[in-house]
Amino acid sequence: MMILGVDIGGSGIKGAIVDTSSGLMIGERHRIATPQPATPEAMAQTLKQLVDHFEWSGPIGCGFPATIHHGVAFSAANIDASWIQTPVDRIFADATGCPCYVVNDADAAGMAEMRFGAGQGRQGVVMLITIGTGLGSAIFVNGHLHPNTELGHLKMKGRIAEHYCSDAVRQREELSWGKWGRRFNRYLQRLEFLFNPDLFILGGGSAQRFDRFRDELHLRTEVLPAASLNQAGIIGAALYAASQLAAAQH
Ligand code: BGC
Repeated sequence: MMILGVDIGGSGIKGAIVDTSSGLMIGERHRIATPQPATPEAMAQTLKQLVDHFEWSGPIGCGFPATIHHGVAFSAANIDASWIQTPVDRIFADATGCPCYVVNDADAAGMAEMRFGAGQGRQGVVMLITIGTGLGSAIFVNGHLHPNTELGHLKMKGRIAEHYCSDAVRQREELSWGKWGRRFNRYLQRLEFLFNPDLFILGGGSAQRFDRFRDELHLRTEVLPAASLNQAGIIGAALYAASQLAAAQH
């Protein structure tokens, strides 16, 4: 099935047409900067521009940087506070004229990696962490997702973890990869202590630079970069939409 997969982030809105049976993107991905302030109206209009770019009129899967319950946002860490309690799926469907299925962005990336990437066939506890403007988390137990985990909001050294070791912090504080990697190592050690996972998968922009910080990670848990690197969010959002469409048919 072809679905427009969209990854909505604090700094960019990225989309591509995805073949959900192979997990491959068909053609180029397109990126538009996230409007500031990132209000519902402004973001819906940006999504519409993306849809127009692809001349798309089919279903859309959206990974969104907030907790999402049945299409409604319940948090807003890196987006405008007016998103809280907003029905994201309805606002996006109204703006684009397409059916929209909305899921937390890290959960979306996790779904892609479990189905086609580094987590394929992996049992036990797999934790995916996306490193971008914020820190996103997705936990799978024997392949089943526990949604909306928000582990980027744990406290680290008196700060919220995503204010301590996200990619945005690395850039803003001009941290070397070594210094940032040591911070991120502390964060993963905390997650390892609390959750005892079998595998960590790292997604988001920084996962593409895994070689720059892998030597700073001292864990007993295996750590792999996401196989689809920064595209996992787009692919996973499309997979989520496909799963919702399939569920509606039963
Ligand atoms: C949000 C999460 C999101 C993560 C990555 C955090 O600030 O609270 O919902 O998954 O950023 O975008």
